[in-house]
Amino acid sequence: MRQRKIKNVDEKLAKFEYMIVSEPSRHKGKWHEIFDGEGELFLEIGCGKGRFIRGMSKKFPSDRFLAVEGQSSVLLRALERSENEELSNVKFIASYISDITDTFEEGELGGIYLNFSDPWPKERHAKRRLTHRSKLKQYVKLISPKGFVQFKTDNDSLFQFTLDEIEALGLEIIQMTGDLHNSPLADDNIMTEYEEKFSSKGKNINYVKFR
Ligand SMILES: C[S@@+](CC[C@H](N)C(=O)[O-])C[C@H]1O[C@@H](n2cnc3c(N)ncnc32)[C@H](O)[C@@H]1O
Repeated sequence: MRQRKIKNVDEKLAKFEYMIVSEPSRHKGKWHEIFDGEGELFLEIGCGKGRFIRGMSKKFPSDRFLAVEGQSSVLLRALERSENEELSNVKFIASYISDITDTFEEGELGGIYLNFSDPWPKERHAKRRLTHRSKLKQYVKLISPKGFVQFKTDNDSLFQFTLDEIEALGLEIIQMTGDLHNSPLADDNIMTEYEEKFSSKGKNINYVKFR
């Protein structure tokens, strides 16, 4: 996500400490302790400026949401916007997550959201894609039996790559469309910043939910 470098970003982030989970791996298996309430825990990897996670947290106030963003300047925007809306069921992880099994126990997540993940188009970078099979294998271990992984992208090649990875692992596709905004799933859809940008230019949005 393109974002101008912000001066003194670390100092500015410190103001939002109460929304940021430091040392996330310490909470493995006991995430329920850091949130009030009993709802399920959902994770978004690469939340950008947080529009999606804010929308989800308002739509599902009894669930809990964790949003991970590695780029500090982008995360700062997500935090500022979340503060204005006083969301009590959202927390943020301020880092690029790599091995998520360090941070979550098997079955601990109700769902994982991947929205407009970086495409890493070069073949030699395929392993960096958040939907590479090595990562999908981890995600499906961490979701509960009724849990899911949901992926949206404007990038048709990354979408095809992801479908191939899902198939190679023999995972179950729950819902899929190559044109989310013109499908029955559009009513329940919460848009992200990237989604707004691409769909306003007429780009179809790809969507798959699987487990
Ligand atoms: C293309 S942007 C999309 C942002 C947002 N999801 C949206 O749809 O508007 C991808 C974001 O994911 C973040 N990101 C990529 N890999 C990540 C990782 N492993 N952990 C945390 N953030 C990551 C990037 O810093 C970037 O802000």
